Amino acid sequence: MTKHIGILTAGGDSPGLNAAIRGVGKAALGHYGMQVIGFRDGFRGLKDNRFEPLDGKYLSGILTIGGTVLGTSRDKPHRMPIGGKVQDMTDVILENYEANHLDALVCLGGGGTQKNALRLMQKGLNIITLPKTIDNDVAMTDVTFGFDTALGIATDAVDRLHSTAHSHHRIIVVEIMGHRAGWLALGTGIAGGADVILLPEIPYDVDSVAEAIRKRVRTGKKFSIVAVAEGAIPREQSDKIREAEAKKASATNKEQKKQAKAELKALEKQHINHTLQLSKQLEELTGLESRVTILGHLQRGGTPSAMDRLLATRLGTACADLIDAEVYGVMVAARGEAAEPVPLDEVAGKRKLIPLDHPWIVSARRVGTNLGD
Ligand code: F6P
Repeated sequence: MTKHIGILTAGGDSPGLNAAIRGVGKAALGHYGMQVIGFRDGFRGLKDNRFEPLDGKYLSGILTIGGTVLGTSRDKPHRMPIGGKVQDMTDVILENYEANHLDALVCLGGGGTQKNALRLMQKGLNIITLPKTIDNDVAMTDVTFGFDTALGIATDAVDRLHSTAHSHHRIIVVEIMGHRAGWLALGTGIAGGADVILLPEIPYDVDSVAEAIRKRVRTGKKFSIVAVAEGAIPREQSDKIREAEAKKASATNKEQKKQAKAELKALEKQHINHTLQLSKQLEELTGLESRVTILGHLQRGGTPSAMDRLLATRLGTACADLIDAEVYGVMVAARGEAAEPVPLDEVAGKRKLIPLDHPWIVSARRVGTNLGD
């Protein structure tokens, strides 16, 4: 019997998504003779039953294109804003899955998508996911597609910032995406030769950073590049966050929980301009001029790198193999050169942070990079 599959892309877009859609689609269609449809704009399109048949023509010519041809959104099936109200649309999604006679739904996404996919799996759908995100923070996979491209873009930016920092004898603080994980900042900082790299995994002490910069000045290097992850936090703030989290975990009534949540929210708010604050503090502490560059969404845009196209294609085609074998409830993980299914409940809700003894951290320290501790 011909299998019918649906594909959607959810969460932030990422280079390599189209290569993955093509990999799943071409293998499903051409190799296994399945019927494939693509839902628009993530779980929102599945709720609205907005889809396109993914035929050979649709899948052709998309390998090298950035973003996602299907569109995406951050909507969650169980908490979707509809007409100003947040509603649980899971039942509608289940109905649309049935109405399209789907045998499986392929969800391409990062950490949030894995959680949403697990919820749909628990409602009885045949779900299979692929790991995408520039943040590289999805658990149980060596790497996610999108990361390599973003790493290249951010490294190119740091290379360019070097010459202007050098010419003006300035500090340049460059903010790098990555959500609450430091993979992108660490990889970029090492590849781009940043003098300081600040990561969410290592809360930083601004005095240590300033001293590292002053030390460079004493050896005649009057400029410094500080690569700061968007999720990096100063030590004092990290202590406060830990305290508030402990309060939330040990709350014995609703009021206490509400209070702890409010404290966490306030701390998050304080964090919004942390890169600008850091730059200002460094100016004051070193006497050097400092400038900020926030790379932002540039890191997610444009053509995927060859490595991301390759990774997305091999995970995508392996996904079609698994659907053919009726292996569901899994994420297709990259393990060395292999693509392996891992149970969704071992992935969802877990964030892959950088272990403090990771070889990248060790190498960064060996070449004399200050990590803010
Ligand atoms: O998860 C990818 C990512 O680019 C993160 O690095 C960043 O924190 C977030 O998405 C930004 O989200 P948005 O595009 O919704 O502003």
